[in-house]
Amino acid sequence: MRCSLITASLTAAAVLLNPALAASNDTTPMQIRLAYAGSTGMVVSWNTYSKLDRPTVRYGLTPWALTKTASSNVSVTYPTSTTYNNHVTITGLEPDTVYYYQPQNSNSSVPYSFKTSRVPGDHTPYTIAVAVDLGLMGPDGLTTHVGNGASNPLGPNDTNTIQSIEQNLDDIDFLWHPGDIAYADYWLKEEIQGFLPNTTIADGAKVYESLLNQYYDEMTPITSKKPYMATTAAPRTRHTTDRTYTVSICQQGQTNFTGYINHFRMPSPQSKGLGNFWYSFDHGMVHYIQLDTETDLGHGFIAPDEPGGPEGEDAGPFSNLRDAQTNWLQQDLASVDRNKTPWTVVAGHRPWYISASNDSSTICEACREVFEPLFLQYGVDLVLSGHVHAYERNAPIRTFDVDPNELNNPSAPWYITNGAAGHYDGLDTLNYPLQPYARYAQDTAYGWSRLTFHNCTHLTHEFVASRNGTVLDRATLFKDRKCQGNDNSQGQQGQL
Ligand SMILES: *[C@@H]1O[C@H](CO)[C@@H](O)[C@H](O)[C@H]1NC(C)=O
Ligand SMILES: *[C@@H]1O[C@H](CO)[C@@H](O)[C@H](O)[C@H]1NC(C)=O
Ligand SMILES: *[C@@H]1O[C@H](CO)[C@@H](O)[C@H](O)[C@H]1NC(C)=O
Ligand SMILES: *[C@@H]1O[C@H](CO)[C@@H](O)[C@H](O)[C@H]1NC(C)=O
Ligand SMILES: *[C@@H]1O[C@H](CO)[C@@H](O)[C@H](O)[C@H]1NC(C)=O
Ligand SMILES: *[C@@H]1O[C@H](CO)[C@@H](O)[C@H](O)[C@H]1NC(C)=O
Ligand SMILES: *[C@@H]1O[C@H](CO)[C@@H](O)[C@H](O)[C@H]1NC(C)=O
Ligand SMILES: *[C@@H]1O[C@H](CO)[C@@H](O)[C@H](O)[C@H]1NC(C)=O
Ligand SMILES: *[C@@H]1O[C@H](CO)[C@@H](O)[C@H](O)[C@H]1NC(C)=O
Repeated sequence: MRCSLITASLTAAAVLLNPALAASNDTTPMQIRLAYAGSTGMVVSWNTYSKLDRPTVRYGLTPWALTKTASSNVSVTYPTSTTYNNHVTITGLEPDTVYYYQPQNSNSSVPYSFKTSRVPGDHTPYTIAVAVDLGLMGPDGLTTHVGNGASNPLGPNDTNTIQSIEQNLDDIDFLWHPGDIAYADYWLKEEIQGFLPNTTIADGAKVYESLLNQYYDEMTPITSKKPYMATTAAPRTRHTTDRTYTVSICQQGQTNFTGYINHFRMPSPQSKGLGNFWYSFDHGMVHYIQLDTETDLGHGFIAPDEPGGPEGEDAGPFSNLRDAQTNWLQQDLASVDRNKTPWTVVAGHRPWYISASNDSSTICEACREVFEPLFLQYGVDLVLSGHVHAYERNAPIRTFDVDPNELNNPSAPWYITNGAAGHYDGLDTLNYPLQPYARYAQDTAYGWSRLTFHNCTHLTHEFVASRNGTVLDRATLFKDRKCQGNDNSQGQQGQL
């Protein structure tokens, strides 16, 4: 067992730990992150070193009058975590409106701000950012060097994906992150490659938490200003492609999506979804659906991360009802008012149409079997995924066949995989020749997706190279339909 080769080096591990910072104390908010909670609500989440009795947020319409407060009793942690996750849902807000806010005991001299989502039916154009497979950046993550056997370090002058999105923050309404968050679970691989200092397996839990905390700290300039809508994959513990290690070395608190469950409060109460696992939300002319491809596929399938699944994980299921996720998806899709939200966009972590090796831990054929019939039945416009660390824009596809209309009014969903946001472990190489449905592929540049909804008929997807902001691929989907919402390009509030 290779575990024994990992030598103890506690001093080295300690270097990684977040030092308690000056000008703050155990109740000082850090890692602030927002999430939509309907068009009249917003979840404000943040971490503290101590548990808060009653997490409280002050807010208001101007930065100098935070006259209202919202509180909760949700201050939660899990084994091995060094912090508490505090979650407060603010309700009764005006849609499409800027608010200023401060979590309690903030050390920031100026309030933070957010903008609530647009009501369904408001057809004002807008843009969002999508990043999949986004890990820690900087000295302990993706940086200008890698360990033995790893590849794709950043170039000396490259902007990383977090910085690139930050540079574009004024132009995006929210950041969608369908899975693989932080990659704290790769700590052991990074130690084995000589990139991180060696620790014992037992002390690995500290390294894991350190990487996770650094990630959420790095994201704060984005997530304290724009809603951060996330889904399953990491943080979990997967432990390297070195099969010597199994989930059995993981400590309590670092399996079964425990970190993910504690860190986020996604809008499943508003959409009858399940926790942070599957949910939907509206924003203006778009209905967004977030699916869980890791667990709970139902229909007799063992999902990739479930016990016995191809990833060797011990996670899920999270519902004990039969076919809970697909039953929810069917009802959710059936209830969409396409006059108000003409666009229906789905994200799930794992792809099924991708030029990659056909093994069950890469391509989720079971996902295709359970989800695709519903996408076709209800006319889903766009399906986003990642998991493969590369970018591939496909044609619209119906059960492996390219829609003959391509992007000019197809009836099948358009499929785009962009798992190129980046982390220490680099990029994946696609399989060449590409699949016949592939229309553009890129597996040498880190990047994120920019989605612009122009109106009810036109939607543009761009692949932005993080290192320099260049758009390497741009394609527009056209849907021939009558727009019935309030097409309002002046940015005023639409009609209910
Ligand atoms: C420390 O926390 C208390 C509340 O317990 C708060 O009132 C105070 O402002 C904080 N001090 C600093 C230096 O942030
Ligand atoms: C927190 O509040 C909710 C509703 O306000 C309540 O149902 C729950 O019991 C409370 N939990 C604790 C631990 O106080
Ligand atoms: C506030 O405290 C947090 C947590 O200790 C720290 O990360 C952040 O840099 C501090 N911010 C300011 C403005 O001092
Ligand atoms: C990085 O930027 C510096 C300063 O502008 C320049 O001298 C150097 O040639 C650049 N390196 C690369 C690899 O582009
Ligand atoms: C970590 O331990 C391995 C195995 O003993 C060794 O090959 C490697 O050089 C060590 N790395 C560091 C950074 O000490
Ligand atoms: C994961 O957590 C869920 C919800 O608590 C639980 O039902 C399930 O049994 C857990 N799975 C494993 C493999 O421990
Ligand atoms: C890929 O593998 C699945 C089984 O996991 C099989 O059903 C499917 O036909 C394969 N697809 C291709 C294109 O070989
Ligand atoms: C919708 O947006 C596209 C792209 O900007 C534009 O070409 C088209 O004319 C717009 N359609 C309407 C009806 O305004
Ligand atoms: C930006 O980076 C991409 C990816 O490496 C490269 O293909 C492109 O040529 C660069 N653009 C400019 C303007 O340097």
